[in-house]
Amino acid sequence: MNAPAQIRTGAPTLDVRGLRTTFHLHAGQLRAVDDVSFSVGRGQIMGLVGESGSGKSITGFSIMRLIDRPGRIDGGEILFHGRDLLQISDRDMRQLRGTKIAMILQDPMMTLNPVLRVETQMIETILAHEKVSRREAWERSRDALGLVGIASPEERLRAYPHQFSGGMRQRVAIAIAMLHRPDLIIADEPTTALDVTIQAQILSEVQQLARNFDTSFVWITHDLSIIAGLADSIAVMYAGKIVESGTIDEVLDQPMHPYTMGLIDSIPSRSEGRRRLKQIPGMTPNMLNLPAGCPFRSRCAHATSVCQHTPRLTAPSPGRTLRCFHPLAEPVS
Ligand SMILES: Nc1ncnc2c1ncn2[C@@H]1O[C@H](COP(=O)(O)OP(=O)(O)OP(=O)(O)O)[C@@H](O)[C@H]1O
Ligand code: SF4
Ligand SMILES: [Mg+2]
Repeated sequence: MNAPAQIRTGAPTLDVRGLRTTFHLHAGQLRAVDDVSFSVGRGQIMGLVGESGSGKSITGFSIMRLIDRPGRIDGGEILFHGRDLLQISDRDMRQLRGTKIAMILQDPMMTLNPVLRVETQMIETILAHEKVSRREAWERSRDALGLVGIASPEERLRAYPHQFSGGMRQRVAIAIAMLHRPDLIIADEPTTALDVTIQAQILSEVQQLARNFDTSFVWITHDLSIIAGLADSIAVMYAGKIVESGTIDEVLDQPMHPYTMGLIDSIPSRSEGRRRLKQIPGMTPNMLNLPAGCPFRSRCAHATSVCQHTPRLTAPSPGRTLRCFHPLAEPVS
């Protein structure tokens, strides 16, 4: 088993080991998630970053055990507080999903019901899993809206989702995800559709929530600049595999994988004055027909003949993982 990226001592909230998820299609087998391992400590935020189609969402849905045919999780372990989610009953998983593990999606309307007042949805969400009075459920709903920066929560509880702006609607979705004080939230590009100022506000609120309630986050995004200010650790995904992981500072200050370096170079603000902003050349590979060897080879300026073989996962320094024959930097010991 490959060593997962360990980010702090103590038992992690989530420990994913060797996860594989495949789509069994007429055209062939599409391995969307291939030997993915990482762990997220209590109250920590891990950014899962990569270009479109790299397998980020399918990793998230696999953790939630929400993969439908023709997709199938066909290997690995998803340890949540040490318990393998792939081995528990559907009933137990549903229970966990409603309480201890939640997901936030890019479109909050996937979570919100347009014909119900926010109040009704929040209260019902609480009552579905807890035996508390309606009054208490209402109070908790009000407090949850306040926590995600919604002013006058008592009034706003009476509103319907369409009466909120996009940013406010996403805040409501986050408040609902937080209602049962989950230990883990999988956030799949939840701020991507929002303008930069609103994104920044929501990200700082999420950071505070993670800290105050010890909630762990897997924050999925294709935008490395979001992760830079938000996450404690990062896992960079390419063609279904994690190609580099470690603490956010180590990986961003000293990237070892040419793909990570390419992502960093394409962030406008980080590139200014240091490097010229440049896009990674070439296209992401066809996942149904991956080339032999390192899948980044055709786009990589550092490729040599050895890259025709598949690079194995290595641990260049404690807490860091890498899949590359020619690391860009030596790890700081
Ligand atoms: N239902 C499906 N049937 C077949 N293939 C799928 C299905 N869902 C995803 N895939 C494939 O799995 C791979 C990973 O997809 P995934 O949605 O995880 O990418 P992503 O990294 O989240 O991309 P994006 O940034 O565009 O959201 C892609 O090649 C995609 O085409
Ligand atoms: S293994 Fe080779 S082709 Fe792949 S990223 Fe490293 S140097 Fe580039
Ligand atoms: Mg996605």
